[in-house]
Amino acid sequence: MDSESIREIERRALEAIAGAGGKEELEEVRIRFLGRKGEITAALRSIGTIPAEQRPAMGKLINSISNRVTASFDKKEAELSGASAGEEPYPGDPTLPGRRRWKGGLHILTQVTNDIAGIFKGMGYSIATGPDVELDYYNFEALNFPEDHPSRDEQDTFYINRDILLRTQTSPVQVRYMEKHDPPVRIISPGRVYRNETPDPSHSAEFFQMEGLFVDTDVSMVDLKNDVTKFIKLYFGREAEVRFRPHFFPFTEPSAEVDMSCFACQGEGCSVCQKTGWLEIMGAGMVHPNVFRYAGYEKDAYTGFAFGMGIDRIAMLKYGIHDIRQFLKNDLRFLGNFWKQKI
Ligand code: PHE
Repeated sequence: MDSESIREIERRALEAIAGAGGKEELEEVRIRFLGRKGEITAALRSIGTIPAEQRPAMGKLINSISNRVTASFDKKEAELSGASAGEEPYPGDPTLPGRRRWKGGLHILTQVTNDIAGIFKGMGYSIATGPDVELDYYNFEALNFPEDHPSRDEQDTFYINRDILLRTQTSPVQVRYMEKHDPPVRIISPGRVYRNETPDPSHSAEFFQMEGLFVDTDVSMVDLKNDVTKFIKLYFGREAEVRFRPHFFPFTEPSAEVDMSCFACQGEGCSVCQKTGWLEIMGAGMVHPNVFRYAGYEKDAYTGFAFGMGIDRIAMLKYGIHDIRQFLKNDLRFLGNFWKQKI
């Protein structure tokens, strides 16, 4: 009995265990090597016949072999009984690392909406919403768009029937809200709007607006300028300058378009602002008395201002996005760029 022939027994034992096709065959193998008269058992017994000084080392070797063969036997037995219980062995490589659970992030337009809303909430505005499928009455009539007036055409409306349409602006929420609430009213209203436009890098048939409405006694244009300027400086930076240009909207009088100085060139003129130094950022004005009348407010009791901005446009300016169509393509290679926490 020498260590080489003991190792030879181990090799044969492991081979026989691996090759055993069923439980009975495996049991035979066990008896042959580990049984009372088995080869490993016999080797252990024969230790008494070798010189005393070699016994400890030999005993250790045979014991470790016996342990390894027993472990291999146990494993094989478990495998065979698993298979016989009808369980399929795992077909893949169980040592491969697992797949990370996929996590997404907020859509860039949701983030921008939340950021803008957060600023207005800090100024005392609360959020109001209205339906996307809207009555012509709220989208146009109650906003002082005369029937058959060309200004209705300017908004390229998707009509569902003569009275129902997809809202072309978030302004209908003004009247809906005022019908239900007496002044003071201080709301913003973010939401999706629809216009029958041919899509191109700066036009989309679906986009997002944020409406603002503030009504109370003695609200003036100064209050409008104050709140709008505060918002622009908080969102785009203190250095932003703001200007109001006269404009026309049927539901505000006077009306204005609001520009901010171009943040890319600080007003010098560049490709972002098309060399004008200014970026158009929203429409605004003092609520027209007819709108108060439609809302059911007491005549001449209140004044107020309204403003409306394109959320997509603001997101494009803020983040240097050049194609409005990107927002609704659901391309994760685009959207993933804006996730705050990427996983
Ligand atoms: N609803 C207008 C538009 O879509 C914007 C606006 C809102 C203008 C509120 C004035 C006051 O163009």
